[in-house]
Formats: sequence, structure tokens, C-alpha cells
Amino acid sequence: MTQDTSVDVDIRPMQMEDLEQVGQIDRLSFSMPWPQRSFRFELTQNPASHLWVAALRQDTPRRVVGVIVTWVIVDEAHIGTIAVHPEYRQAGIGKRLLACALLDAWQAGARQAFLEVRRSNLAAQALYTRVGFVVEAVRPRYYRDNGEDALLMTLKEFPLERLRMDAG
Ligand SMILES: CC(C)(COP(=O)(O)OP(=O)(O)OC[C@H]1O[C@@H](n2cnc3c(N)ncnc32)[C@H](O)[C@@H]1OP(=O)(O)O)[C@@H](O)C(=O)NCCC(=O)NCCS
Repeated sequence: MTQDTSVDVDIRPMQMEDLEQVGQIDRLSFSMPWPQRSFRFELTQNPASHLWVAALRQDTPRRVVGVIVTWVIVDEAHIGTIAVHPEYRQAGIGKRLLACALLDAWQAGARQAFLEVRRSNLAAQALYTRVGFVVEAVRPRYYRDNGEDALLMTLKEFPLERLRMDAG
């Protein structure tokens, strides 16, 4: 079993007041961040969208340090984005976010999951591989900013026991 983080966070559904902090994390994490309106749209208009944040327990008001967006369509979950604030990485937060989002998607009927990840993003690939995602295909020159390939990773079976352990 992996020793979990010393950073104490709650994983909870995203709320309107989180949008600004979520946008900041996104901009710090990606070369092509989502426009702020995209998170608002996902939160308020897209019924397929499941949005979660990781919020520090010790802060009042609680600082948001991680985010995950998943689209659940019939029996498939598509991980749209996941990011942890750079100052809080490698402390088990990404693992918890992913586990909570997958368990929630399972509850909503998903039985498989998929995502795209940059070929060079070894940290994210390691996160996905440890719960059973495998590379299914390559989408050549998928990313517009630098023409990098995307790896399409899929999870054919949800490892419920492991996910429950990771979710904490
Ligand atoms: C990918 C990301 C979300 C991981 O979040 P995190 O909170 O740092 O991850 P965790 O601490 O929960 O680590 C979970 C697992 O991921 C892997 N991992 C995380 N960071 C890693 C790194 N820098 N190098 C190698 N493996 C890493 C490890 O397998 C780790 O498991 P272990 O602790 O049992 O070894 C984070 O690095 C991030 O926000 N990156 C920028 C945004 C991004 O690339 N998102 C993915 C888009 S597809």
C-alpha cells in the first residue's frame, strides 16, 4: 500500500466560487489552458460533466489545489482534465482526485474510461498506469501548440478496490 500524503485535502464537487482558483491552477499547469468560460460552461450547462476539486483542510476559506473534470456518457468516462497546483504535486492529491472521479463515474454508470495525454507527460502517464490505464492508440500531432502526439489511454475495467483505497 502507498503511504498517502501529509497534505490534508477534501475532494468535493466544484462550486461557482472555485472557478477563479481552478482557472489559476489550469493556467499554471498547461501550455494550452482552458478559457475560464469553459469551466463555467462545464459547471453550469453540461449535464455530462462531473467536476471535482481538492481543497486544503487547514485553510479558511479552503484553498483549492487540484481539479478534475470527467464527462460521463452512457457507460464511458472521458477524463477531460486533471491538474494539481505545482506547489502541491507529488503529495498524493492527483491520485485521490482520479480515484474519486472514477468511483463517481462508476456510480453514474461508466464501465470504461479513456483520456488523451501528451507523449512527453510521463508524470501523468505514471498516474494513469498505476490504476490500469493502457496506451490504446497514438493520435499524431494532436496538440496544436507544439505538434506533439497524444497517447489515447483506456481503462477497460475499473479496479474498484484500488480506487477505494486511493480515494482515502
Ligand atoms: C499529473 C498530475 C495531476 C499528478 O498529480 P500529483 O498530485 O502530483 O500526483 P500524485 O502525487 O497523486 O502521484 C500519483 C502517482 O503519479 C505518478 N507521478 C506523479 N508525479 C510524478 C512524477 N513527477 N514523476 C513520475 N511519476 C509521477 C506516480 O506513479 C505516483 O504514484 P506513487 O506516489 O505511488 O509513486 C500533476 O503532475 C499535474 O498537475 N501535472 C500538470 C497537469 C497535467 O499534466 N495533467 C495531466 C493532463 S493529461
